[in-house]
Amino acid sequence: MTTQAEINALLDRYPAISYLREAARARLPHFAFEYLDSGTGLEKGISRNRDRLDRICMTPRFVSGYKTPDLKTALFGREYAAPIGMAPVGATGLMWPGGEKILARAARDHGLVHCLSTVACETPETIGAIAGPNGWFQLYPFDDADAEADLVCRAERSGYEVLVVTVDVPVSSTRERQRRAGMSRDKGGLSRLAQVLARPQWALATARYGAPKFRTLDPYLEKEPGIMLSEYMARRIGKIDYDHLAAIRERWKGSVIIKGIMAEEDAEACIRLGMDGIVVSNHGARQLDAAPAAIDALRRIAPQVRGKISVLFDSGIQGGLDIARALALGAEFVLAGRAFIYGIAAAGEAGGDLVAQMLRNDLENNMIQLGVSRPEELSSCLTPDEWTAGG
Ligand SMILES: Cc1cc2nc3c(=O)[nH]c(=O)nc-3n(C[C@H](O)[C@H](O)[C@H](O)COP(=O)(O)O)c2cc1C
Repeated sequence: MTTQAEINALLDRYPAISYLREAARARLPHFAFEYLDSGTGLEKGISRNRDRLDRICMTPRFVSGYKTPDLKTALFGREYAAPIGMAPVGATGLMWPGGEKILARAARDHGLVHCLSTVACETPETIGAIAGPNGWFQLYPFDDADAEADLVCRAERSGYEVLVVTVDVPVSSTRERQRRAGMSRDKGGLSRLAQVLARPQWALATARYGAPKFRTLDPYLEKEPGIMLSEYMARRIGKIDYDHLAAIRERWKGSVIIKGIMAEEDAEACIRLGMDGIVVSNHGARQLDAAPAAIDALRRIAPQVRGKISVLFDSGIQGGLDIARALALGAEFVLAGRAFIYGIAAAGEAGGDLVAQMLRNDLENNMIQLGVSRPEELSSCLTPDEWTAGG
């Protein structure tokens, strides 16, 4: 674990996620930064997520006394130090070598959640052993039933208890910025090499660790000689229906969370199918640029399903105040994707600890400003005009 003195020095340098984003831009090869940072289409969805979060005002109460925040949160039979998790991010190891290990360790040490992606650069066997009960495994539904069954089995054997099934990538989106930067091509050629050489710290660290590979998927890719990852993803991954979800539910003994829910009827279907949780998410505005802000979907969905299924949230989280806003609107647990990855891209090994502490401190600070000690009390701080008018 990074020492507190090191974290404090890093916090002086990068006091908020926005500074980490700029440092990530300067440290990563252009194609990797564009992959991490981009949305899709005109990228209005990213600003919509931001704008709608910013419109949520909360009213502080001061005179009843100082409140010490208590962030402990029980979910699916485990207790976490705070309702904060690391959303699954494919190719995390591209943004910093060993990124999945760094984040899994930080989640374990800070009592948060780390969710490993199907498209990870490390295996569930490696990361499950590091994260322990703080690890969740994310599954993209496969068209290949044998491959899916094998991967689910591996996740189970690796100790994962929570399976997060992502349903909002029926097909890749256009991601124009990452395509222009050369990320979408399986072989990058000279342009990608030039981008790597322009980022010597990343190049050196990557050369030392070894080039990023899709280690979780490798055994399935190897069964189709010559297939590129993008082709495999297009052909084999993402499509889902009720029967498929029911089969996954039946097979997995632990908790199942469905990620990428934006519509009330999908949330209701998850309840009918016996799921344990949903993540209200628009995939960080990376899939459908016309999707409503995820926080607006949370505002609609959470009251409708409260008490019947656990509600989690992601998309657009840039600090503890955003986490407080999502908790106020009914989320029990909040995940951040890019924020943690900017952290490791900017600060390497220390990045996981840094962002974990930054988000937690910021959430605590905002709860003290508001005069509440427990996450459940945050909804009482919503400023009625904004709340009732929908912002
Ligand atoms: C670079 C990148 C890769 C992602 N890969 C995955 C993935 O493999 N599986 C998944 O379920 N979600 C994936 N997501 C979506 C995140 O889990 C999460 O929904 C999103 O990042 C939340 O928005 P935020 O980045 O604004 O926090 C990815 C997001 C990013 C930015």
